[in-house]
Amino acid sequence: MNYRHAFHAGNFADLVKHAALLQLLDRLTAQGGPLTVIDTHAGRGLYDLQGAEARKSGEAEAGIVRLMAAKDPPEAFAPLTAAVAKLNGGGDLRRYPGSPWLIAQALRAADRHVACELRPDEHAALRQAMKDRRNVETLCADGYEAAEARTPKDGRALVLIDPPFERADDYARIVETAEAVRRRNPRAQLLIWLPLKDLATFDGFLADFEDAVEAPALVAETRIRPLTDPMKMNGCALVLLGAPAELAAPLEAICRWTAETLGEAGEARVYQA
Ligand SMILES: C[S@@+](CC[C@H](N)C(=O)[O-])C[C@H]1O[C@@H](n2cnc3c(N)ncnc32)[C@H](O)[C@@H]1O
Repeated sequence: MNYRHAFHAGNFADLVKHAALLQLLDRLTAQGGPLTVIDTHAGRGLYDLQGAEARKSGEAEAGIVRLMAAKDPPEAFAPLTAAVAKLNGGGDLRRYPGSPWLIAQALRAADRHVACELRPDEHAALRQAMKDRRNVETLCADGYEAAEARTPKDGRALVLIDPPFERADDYARIVETAEAVRRRNPRAQLLIWLPLKDLATFDGFLADFEDAVEAPALVAETRIRPLTDPMKMNGCALVLLGAPAELAAPLEAICRWTAETLGEAGEARVYQA
């Protein structure tokens, strides 16, 4: 496991994922009973934008730094930019929040949050970042297995799946996990992040996913450049299961702004699959 999210924190793909996550959580926490969120691949929770990794990659510079400086970004980014400003005390942009930090600050007192991270060093940092949050449980464990075991059988649940895609079987494990989670709780919602390199891989995943879960998904693609070189991350996609239909409009705004502002000849697509 060589992947370190510190190189990528605050890049265009984090902006899409985190803005969409907060839009979904806004709706899920606006009403209804307690919600359980399982973050299968949580990372370390907080990222140092002045650290060696962020400075070396320059990805945050091309992502969150540009979003925070943008004159008129779409309203759909407002929960994310507010969270980033709060984390930085309204001052210079020094830190970027990971998904567990964003989830924790969006949840209500009665909601629960299970954050899984397999790397012991990343998990230790995650536990430290979450130490003052009462309703968060961090696990140094395989997130796919935890989602299967810990999704509540009744009640409201959201499972965020955001693997590093270092292993060839990540696509298959996402499909198996989504199927198992929905078998356990047919009301569970899923938000899945995937890289867009070439269309054949993504279309193959979507076909397997649809066969397994037998329910329509909302798909949001952000292409930052045409998908001509499969060795590059040319964009990212979100696949949402059980999400409210009204999420399509903010997702479209998030993906379009990111593709057009941060991409080169970028384009965005939001559709039901
Ligand atoms: C893309 S990063 C997560 C970023 C985080 N979700 C966020 O948005 O801030 C993926 C993380 O998953 C961890 N990881 C890899 N395989 C895992 C597994 N099977 N279960 C749990 N965590 C895993 C990696 O160490 C890495 O920190």
